[in-house]
Amino acid sequence: MREKIRALLQECDALLVAHYYQKDEIVEMADLVGDSLELARKASANPHKLVVFCGVGFMGQSVKILAPQKRVIMPRLACCSMARMIDDTYYDESIALMQSYGIKEIFPITYINSNAQVKAKVGEMGGVVCTSANASKIFEYARSHQKKIFFLPDKCLGLNLAHRFKMKSAVLGVSSQEEILDADVICYNGFCSVHQLFSVEDIEFYRSKYPNILIVTHPECPPEVVERSDFVGSTSQIIQYVTSLDPTQKVAVGTEFNLVNRLRKPHNGINHTFVLSATKPECPTMNETTLEDVLKVLEAYKKGEPYNEIQIPQEIGISAKKALDRMMELS
Ligand code: 13P
Ligand code: SF4
Repeated sequence: MREKIRALLQECDALLVAHYYQKDEIVEMADLVGDSLELARKASANPHKLVVFCGVGFMGQSVKILAPQKRVIMPRLACCSMARMIDDTYYDESIALMQSYGIKEIFPITYINSNAQVKAKVGEMGGVVCTSANASKIFEYARSHQKKIFFLPDKCLGLNLAHRFKMKSAVLGVSSQEEILDADVICYNGFCSVHQLFSVEDIEFYRSKYPNILIVTHPECPPEVVERSDFVGSTSQIIQYVTSLDPTQKVAVGTEFNLVNRLRKPHNGINHTFVLSATKPECPTMNETTLEDVLKVLEAYKKGEPYNEIQIPQEIGISAKKALDRMMELS
């Protein structure tokens, strides 16, 4: 099967792209593996005319928005559950709610984990996209506008950034009107179900077992977990950090299982890298894609019967690109 896929990729002038959370069989085969920022940047800038994207929907969409001349197909149209928590109607309702409180100056930042329609709304309001790798830089830029920041859809990332920058924060639909009016950063009430699994109890468990252990987490984890971590970063930053440690340093990592499992390389037969959770933190949609799906989608494309091709209406693509381009310029 691997040889067939390799041959089809060449015949179709295609690049096989995979996010770090994909299954090992996909990551081993991919031409390009990365975090969501690297994949958006490198997959849109590469010379191949077709991108076969193994990841979740918003990632394939980001490549298509940045490089509309390319064809982007996904072996599985898997959807990030956090991205599904907001659509353009919820976005409009959130803006209307803040305006009904008397808030006039709003600067929106959407996490890249959102669909093209939401990014288009943000682009039209002069806002910007961010990823976990560049969120601090984007936040600095947003702060310079002296407006209230509306951060969506991940409340955890928004609250973690507000805490880092010592800004007041609130969550729309949860905090009171007074708290919203008092806040510098207003977060939408979305979250990642996988990163909610990591808890303070998990950290305490590992610290009591191994007093010198380092705790490493993704910024989608709850604020109380992030505050107690030794290192917080995007998937690429986590890999860089963990692989740069002494091989005998014990470390517990709070992010998706496939990535953490790949980092577990025993030293002299002893494993020093742990998953920071008693429950297996698997992203169900990231785990949907198989090599068989890659083969099938390529065969159909080759036959002139493509499916799961990313299509973005032109006007949505133009507006969404404004928000993504701003991010690329700032990162
Ligand atoms: P990264 O941008 O760190 O790759 O994260 C994407 C994601 O969906 C994490 O859950
Ligand atoms: Fe979405 Fe969470 Fe899966 Fe990342 S881990 S793709 S945020 S559901």
